[in-house]
Formats: sequence, structure tokens, C-alpha cells
Amino acid sequence: MSENIERHAYDVLIIGSGGAGLRAAIAAAEGGAKVAVLGKSLLGKAHTVMAEGGVAASLANVDPADGWETHFYDTMRSGHFINNYKMAEVFAKEAPARVLELEQWGAVFDRTPDGKIMQRPFGAHTFRRLAHVGDRTGMELIRTLEQKILTVNVDVFQEITATKIFTDNGRAAGAVAYYREDGRFALFSAKAIVIATGGWGKAYKVTSNSWESTGDGAALAFRAGAELVDMEMVQFHPTGMVWPPGVRGILVTEGVRGEGGLLRNSEGERFMEKYDPQRMELSSRDVVARSIYKEVQAGRGTPHGGAWLDITHKGPEYIKRKLPGMYQQFMALADVDITKTPFEVGPTIHYTMGGLRVDALTCATNVPGLFAAGECAGGLHGANRLGGNSLADILVFGKRAGDGALEFLQGSEGTPKLDDAEVQQEIERVLKPLGNEGGENPYAVHEVLQEVMAEHAGISRTGPSLEEGLQKMLELKARAEHMTVPGSRVFNPGWHAVQDVRNMIALCETIIRGAIERKESRGAQWRLDFADELDEYGKVNFVHKLEDGEAKTFSAPVSEMPTELQELFQLGAAPGIAKSAKKE
Ligand code: FUM
Repeated sequence: MSENIERHAYDVLIIGSGGAGLRAAIAAAEGGAKVAVLGKSLLGKAHTVMAEGGVAASLANVDPADGWETHFYDTMRSGHFINNYKMAEVFAKEAPARVLELEQWGAVFDRTPDGKIMQRPFGAHTFRRLAHVGDRTGMELIRTLEQKILTVNVDVFQEITATKIFTDNGRAAGAVAYYREDGRFALFSAKAIVIATGGWGKAYKVTSNSWESTGDGAALAFRAGAELVDMEMVQFHPTGMVWPPGVRGILVTEGVRGEGGLLRNSEGERFMEKYDPQRMELSSRDVVARSIYKEVQAGRGTPHGGAWLDITHKGPEYIKRKLPGMYQQFMALADVDITKTPFEVGPTIHYTMGGLRVDALTCATNVPGLFAAGECAGGLHGANRLGGNSLADILVFGKRAGDGALEFLQGSEGTPKLDDAEVQQEIERVLKPLGNEGGENPYAVHEVLQEVMAEHAGISRTGPSLEEGLQKMLELKARAEHMTVPGSRVFNPGWHAVQDVRNMIALCETIIRGAIERKESRGAQWRLDFADELDEYGKVNFVHKLEDGEAKTFSAPVSEMPTELQELFQLGAAPGIAKSAKKE
């Protein structure tokens, strides 16, 4: 039976309404394109609002020695040099302009006494670099972009889930989606598509991610022929809430440590002294997360399996002013007053460094007409992301993806065609689980998925365990083919879960495959059976592609930095510090 569906035609279709999607939409619309944004959530509610501590940009307002070279250096070092250096370079160069532009559009940043945008320290950033709005920076960023989008010509479709990207002769041609409220389908033909749907943290149980983070866009693009890169690199943020159980995983901003918070174990020891005596609590996330994990494993954890974080020495007035969200979060959710007492924190899945493999300048994937920006794209962060670099990422590469799509329109002829039969086939696939009793329950499949990822592809990994995890994932993939849900398509969260779980399984298979191939420890990939970082693996990224429906993994050489950038790493210190020392 064929379904009568709503039809739309756009120049640029943006899937995802978080920071990257909105910034891409603004760029494309300002260039004169007819633009639509599809959001799984309500506008202004995307996962970007959960970003707390700040946006990293070398404005040098607080530390005048900062500059793009040092931001680039920090980003590459923290990514353990498997980053796409060109992305890191344009990122570090353009982040200040993107933040200042946001200020012009109305973002109300915290200020220095002389009225500049205030910047706070964050882990593994050489200088105080994070422009912030208390501990609610993501919310202000989205509020500003939302306000800006009202001034350009963009159609926003809210609470709508895209399920398939279509191609015409290999070129991206459009997407089909359904309204979450009542299951009506809508078809979008487009000359170019930008994926900006964020990460897939919901593949893990203990996560700081909100319900939207199920990797939809990355999975859809993968099925449409796009390549994924560095999928094994999944970031544990060192500090999530650990108690009470219902809030386990919720983010405790690195801003707490940036503002002076200290980590201690159950014996009162400031244990970071053992793991990174120089940077201590402000070491990179991979190091701090592993350190907490090791303390807990050694029996020096807090009552609920974490570490103590203490900021009481800063006094209530300061804490409530600089970290209002944290104060309220702990009061409301844990009945803990962080101005008076240390609180428990532990590692939580926070960010997926891997993602769609894109061109550094245009954000184009290998599928003509298909672009990606933000967390769903890979390459910028390499093996580990610095805090604050994701908000800057979505601004820099959101704009670049919008511009890249525009450029593509100018250089390509005509409108690709959608095949009605293919569209109907997809609609039938999406509707099949409904009212079809007796199959696999999507929530049960999701639970198994989270167990497999935690057990086999968690903070520490080994070859045999990863292999076992891969077998379990393939079995789960087969089971997931038979998910069913009772009820109709109206207000049916179980039905939405079917799509989410299918997408996460597709991506998790590549996480495990990448982790198996990378027989070393680097950044977020901690292999107990290969404890060292090995030169040979510093030269490769692992790339995944679907061939006849099967995920295939191959290695590709890491892009090599030109001499002038390599020289930045031979100064004996971060560029800003080395240059200041030379002047003196
Ligand atoms: O800790 C935080 O506030 C998180 C920031 C980020 O991941 O960039």
C-alpha cells in the first residue's frame, strides 16, 4: 500500500538542529540557498545545550601569549597526532572569529574586569582559553543561534526523525523523515545535505549524553556510502555524577576543576600527583578519567565508586557565581551542597571523536553533495578531544559545512532525482515493526547493546574481549532485524527506539572493529594488552565503509603536517610559551 506523503524541495537540507546544524543553516541561507533544518527535538533543545564549561578560542583576553598556534598545538597533542591536521589548523585559526561573531549576534559572555570576554582554564589547554557563560555556555550558544536564525530564511521542522538518505547516481538526493508526534512521513529532495546530528553516547548506559545522541545522521550517511573514521575513539569525561543511581553519568563540568576544584581519593590523597604531577586535575580527559578508574580499581574509590571533587575552598559566593548550574544540579538531584562539601564524581561517556570522514575545508564526505559537521564528523579531535573544543568545532565547521554546501550547489548541475519506489520501500521498512507482536523489544535490545559496549569496548579494552564483543554485536544486529512494537505510529516512543537502536548498532560495530585494529594505547583507546603508544599506529587512521551491506575496515595514512607546522612541536614548549621566553 502506498503512503501519501508531504513533499518538500530545498537547495540545502540540514539534518540536525544543534549548534552545528544551525550554524550551517545560517551560512547556507546567507549565501542565498533555500534551506531546511530537521530537528529530532524541539528547536533550542538539542544536546548542544548540555555543553557547560565554555568554548575554546585563542582570544588571548586573559593570557596575552595565547594564539592560534598554541591552540593548534594543544589540539594536536591531545589528539595524539592522529587528527586531521588541516582541520585542526583552520579550527584554531577561525575559532576566535566565530566566538566574536557570536558575541555580535547577542551572546552574553562572562566578562573580564576591563569588559572583554572572560576565559577560564580547562584541561590540557596551555592558556586560559574557554569563553564562557557561567556553566551554561551551550545554552547561550543555542539561544544566540536560534535568535540569529530568525533573521535569515530557514524553514525549521521540529520533532522529526530522518530515516534514510537517498542518492541519485551516487549523489545525495534527499531524505525521508517522519514526524515523531503522529508518524506522518515527509520527503525532502535536496541539492545538498549537511549532517549535523551529534554523537552516539546513548550506546553506553553511563553517559552525559541526552536522549537525542543516537548517531542517526552518521548511520544514515554510512548507509548512503559515506566513510567513518577513528570510530574506536570514544571519550570518557572524567567527571560525571555517580550518585544517586538515577542521575549517574550526568555531566559535572570540567569548569569545576578549571575554577580550582581538587580531586581526592578515599584516603584524602590528591592522586593526580601520581599520574600527571604537572597538570594535575587539569590534565587531558583521557588521563584524568583513567586515573579515577585506576584509583577505584585499587580500592581507593568513594562509597559509590568514584573520586571526591572538592571546590569548597573557593567559597559559596564564588561557586554560585561561576558554577550556578553545578550548585543547583547537586542540590536538586543529590541533595548535596557543593559549597560546603566535596562530592562524588566518576568517568562518564561524553563524546565520540570518530565520525564521518570529511574534507577539512568544505566538510564534504566522499558522497557528492553530502556534508557533515560537529560531533558526527571525525578527524578534528584525533584520539582525544579537549574540553571546549566541541563548541568551537560546531561553530567553525558548522559555517564551513554551510559554505561547502553552497559551493557545491554552484559547481553542480540540476536537481538529483528521488525514486518513488525506493521511498515507498523505506516507508514500509520503517512501519514494519508497528503492531507486529512477538519480535524483539527495542528497549531490551538497547539494554544489551549498552551492556556489550560497557563490557567489551569501555574505558579499558583487550583483543580477546573486543573479539567477543564483536560477535555479540553481530548477533545483536541480527536480532535487531526483528524488532517489533505494540501500538500505532502516534506518540509511540518504542517505535522511535527501533530507529535509534538500529543506528547505534551500525556505529558500535565500527567502534569495536576500529578498536580491534588499533593494537596500541592512544588517547581514549586504552588496550590492556598493548599498553604503549606505537609509532606505526600514529601514522594511520582506521576507516570504515559499507560494502554490500557489510562494514569493512581499512587503514589510511594520517595526513602529514607541512614543515612550518611540524616546527611548532620542536620548540621545546607550547608555541606561546616558547615565543614569550624568547622575547625575555
Ligand atoms: O566539562 C564540560 O564543561 C564539557 C565541555 C566540553 O566537553 O567541551
